[in-house]
Amino acid sequence: MKLQVQRAYNFNAGPSALPLSVLEKAQEELIDFRGTGMSVMELSHRSRPYEEVHNQAISSLRELLNIPDTHEVLFLQGGASLQFSMIPMNFLQAGKKASYVMTGSWSEKAFSEAKLFGEVYHAASTKEGNYRSIPKLDELKYDKEDAYIHITSNNTIYGTQWKDFPDTGDVPLIADMSSDILSKPIDVSKFALIYAGAQKNLGPSGVTVVIIRKDLLETANTNIPTMLKYSTHSKNNSLYNTPPTFGIYMLGEVLNWARDLGGLETIAKRNEEKANYIYSVIDNSNGFYIGHANQDSRSLMNLTFNLKTPELEKKFLDLAKQEGFVGVNGHRSIGGCRVSAYNAVPVEACQAFSEFMIQFQKENN
Ligand SMILES: Cc1ncc(COP(=O)(O)O)c(C=O)c1O
Repeated sequence: MKLQVQRAYNFNAGPSALPLSVLEKAQEELIDFRGTGMSVMELSHRSRPYEEVHNQAISSLRELLNIPDTHEVLFLQGGASLQFSMIPMNFLQAGKKASYVMTGSWSEKAFSEAKLFGEVYHAASTKEGNYRSIPKLDELKYDKEDAYIHITSNNTIYGTQWKDFPDTGDVPLIADMSSDILSKPIDVSKFALIYAGAQKNLGPSGVTVVIIRKDLLETANTNIPTMLKYSTHSKNNSLYNTPPTFGIYMLGEVLNWARDLGGLETIAKRNEEKANYIYSVIDNSNGFYIGHANQDSRSLMNLTFNLKTPELEKKFLDLAKQEGFVGVNGHRSIGGCRVSAYNAVPVEACQAFSEFMIQFQKENN
């Protein structure tokens, strides 16, 4: 018997909302996974039923993102944060430099980590403007001899997002897509490496997806620990050691859900519709709500804004919580308000929140 539960309006920044149908399917399959008499968590990662789950998740991701044969999909652990270290460890060769486009706290973290391994510099930075924008593509400064250039495609904390990506020619373009992967179609062939912690658009935390151009593996540094070499995981189909099996199963189910919804074109339109509910309230509020990001840079995933005074902001956040809207507080480092409207957040949740915002303004203007 299915329990009738009240699902929250979940605007958490990550871990975040998962599709209800995926949770229900996982619940259904939990005790006896497809006739095995055990849960997917209890299967050997070397068994046929698990291998099917694993390979299916890889091929579903390839299909949805239209990943070309030049690129490979890896499932790693350690979160996106470990990628901050693995990237320079593997690809910042002696005598080379790497450039980083600074668009927020996550780029700063990636940059600091890379500094431990070699020479890095800023290709551009919007820090002076309090990270309200994404730099113009023609403002990026990098050298054609560089080991790579790193960007953060969506800035989860400040609420900005790249709309187009640079064509960096022979310089490998690497992107942290943790908070917007799968939110819209992208041209994977532009990137040498894409990485994303799963816990926003892909599934539960615990698995990190890496999409890597195969030729990069050939010139990667070799004097690094086995587990931290991309080639180790590539040679072993991400089964060198025990992978996060339940997370990969959930990822596969989320990918099926995304495909059944109509794929990334449909998802992109739906994300625009969702964000528009909230941005239009901000834009029509006569300054009652103040968006953090510049209009041309704002994110469809993390919508950040302030109210005129800290007191009013507190009242707004307290009331939002009372009304059942979860996770609307801005990141602890910058405060304010943030609505994370990832793929699995239903349109109705954004509509309900926009109505709440309008009502709050009426009562407090
Ligand atoms: C853009 C971005 N990069 C990296 C991270 C860090 O991810 P993890 O917690 O998986 O290490 C986050 C987490 O929110 C993020 O939003």
